[in-house]
Amino acid sequence: MADEAGGHVPVTRRQWDEHMSAWFERYAHPRWAAAEPYWGMWCIPQSHLPVLPADPAGAAAVELGCGSAYISAWLSRRGARPVAVDVSARQLATARRMQDEFGLRFPLVHGDAERVPLTAACADLVISEYGASVWCDPYRWIPEAARLLRPGGRLVFMAESTLARMCLPEEGPATERLVHDLFGMHRLVRRGESGTEYRQFTLPHGEWIRLMAGCGLVVEDLIEVRIPPGATNNDFPEFPDEWVRRWPAEEVWFARRR
Ligand SMILES: C[S@@+](CC[C@H](N)C(=O)[O-])C[C@H]1O[C@@H](n2cnc3c(N)ncnc32)[C@H](O)[C@@H]1O
Repeated sequence: MADEAGGHVPVTRRQWDEHMSAWFERYAHPRWAAAEPYWGMWCIPQSHLPVLPADPAGAAAVELGCGSAYISAWLSRRGARPVAVDVSARQLATARRMQDEFGLRFPLVHGDAERVPLTAACADLVISEYGASVWCDPYRWIPEAARLLRPGGRLVFMAESTLARMCLPEEGPATERLVHDLFGMHRLVRRGESGTEYRQFTLPHGEWIRLMAGCGLVVEDLIEVRIPPGATNNDFPEFPDEWVRRWPAEEVWFARRR
């Protein structure tokens, strides 16, 4: 797989191959084993947060930034035909191990979601949960998602909310102040405990809508996720309970290809 010289993609790929995959491996088995899909940092079940379409049977799906590919596994069990794409060979190795363990096969593609090695109009559904939706430049991956979709096909993606991003400093928990400007919001830096710099992306809502519209995608819904009472988040301390009781930490976008 050819790298784009000097950009964020090779940096991100190295981070996932070298250390992030090991940390995220814990999510693979329980999610692959789950009878009901669940979403995001608070593991909200599909019955409360309907991210997957009601009946994906027969749909050709592409998951962008699939990690261990549990969403593709959920889709495959529901009769869809997923292709799971990720830039990290190590993440795909975990996905392959899960496929062996659960006896489920679908294509795993080692590729960059900003330049997807798949043909145009091959998908009825393009989906990303904290994959391309966080780690890829929207001005590159949204046009790719639109290219992959057939007319009438759906794009669904989940990530931290734009509001949460405005309240998250480079390090530490979300604050009750807006620490980033909304105007011009695009590239973001988050710093891990060891000081590692992670390169991520988001846009102001108006800009997401304009970008999608310009690519032939009509926004149908935006869910600003409200965490159900009793839901726990043990792994992402940047969002204290008091914060998420008042504001959406996550959001899910739904768009349709014209
Ligand atoms: C948090 S995981 C998302 C997968 C899964 N939904 C999860 O929550 O574990 C982020 C994934 O995005 C992948 N990723 C980052 N940049 C990418 C790119 N340019 N193209 C494809 N995948 C990318 C990473 O390798 C990683 O597997």
